[in-house]
Amino acid sequence: MKVAVLGAAGGIGQPLSLLLKLNPLVSHLSLFDIVHTPGVAADLSHMCTPAHVTGHMGTDQLEACLSGSNIVVIPAGVPRKPGMTRDDLFNTNASIVRDLVDACAKFCPESMICIISNPVNSTVPIASEVMKQRGVYDHRRVFGVTTLDVVRANTFVAEAKDRDVAHVNVPVIGGHSGETIVPLLSQATPRITFPREERTKMIERIQNAGTEVVEAKAGAGSATLSMAYAGAKFTGSLLDALNGREDVVECTFVQSDETECTYFATPILLGKRGIEQNLGIGRLADFEVSLLEKAIPELQKNITKGEEWIKSNP
Ligand code: NAD
Ligand code: LMR
Repeated sequence: MKVAVLGAAGGIGQPLSLLLKLNPLVSHLSLFDIVHTPGVAADLSHMCTPAHVTGHMGTDQLEACLSGSNIVVIPAGVPRKPGMTRDDLFNTNASIVRDLVDACAKFCPESMICIISNPVNSTVPIASEVMKQRGVYDHRRVFGVTTLDVVRANTFVAEAKDRDVAHVNVPVIGGHSGETIVPLLSQATPRITFPREERTKMIERIQNAGTEVVEAKAGAGSATLSMAYAGAKFTGSLLDALNGREDVVECTFVQSDETECTYFATPILLGKRGIEQNLGIGRLADFEVSLLEKAIPELQKNITKGEEWIKSNP
């Protein structure tokens, strides 16, 4: 399968492309950026794994990059610095995502579109609206990549409870910023319980984990390596599903009827057409109902901001 990475020369783009080059289901890895792509592509192309690598730079090369792509992963855009919210990235990243998704609508309208660029709560609605404007929208093929929230939740819970992280799964629903991130500790497998205070701290750590990295990097960007891992995990799951595997589930931010928010992350069964089935929120503990009540207004505000922006900036 052909996988395109847009923003491939960036902090996420480079390690993500490296990890995708290792995936045997990728036959063509097509890399696009506005800078440095020839070098990144030349470097990766020397790895003795099956994927053929091509590098494309500048908008006139988007057609060659995207044509025939099965999956497009988009980590293009600016990252946060300490003191910023993800929403502070909106003004720069909204138009980057709009233009790249517009190219997808033209050159690979049936591809799976995976948005990493922040603020995900707004860039995913923007991507969907662009596909609608071009008449090629299918809600089953547009995903916000929120896998990093699950990766973090699994890691932190396994560490706290001295479990093997390979066997810990904590669903994370909602959106991808602060209080819109809703970890479902009550649905963790295996079943894990926390005293109330420890539980509150754990939830707050998962919600603020992006900021933890932004502060530790002290102005040099946000999570790149763990995000590359998470992005490769999500793309790998999508590749498995497109390849016919029938039990592939990932939490991802998609168009949704699960709450009053028009987009919402829940566990999704992936299939050959993208979203096969939304597995829903499931049963919540009382403390999670309160988290959800806090998340919904903020999340819908972020969604509406993206939808309104694209109306006046088509
Ligand atoms: P970065 O600045 O290191 O890399 C971004 C890359 O995008 C650069 O190479 C840049 O040249 C490229 N780019 C800019 N405009 C472009 C365009 N029009 N077309 C193609 N490429 C373009 O940033 P990063 O650390 O890789 O982060 C990228 C984005 O991912 C940020 O918005 C960040 O907030 C977001 N992010 C999301 C998650 C998540 O969980 N979804 C996690 C971490 C970071
Ligand atoms: C993350 O969760 O690490 C990303 O959304 C990047 C950020 O700005 O925190």
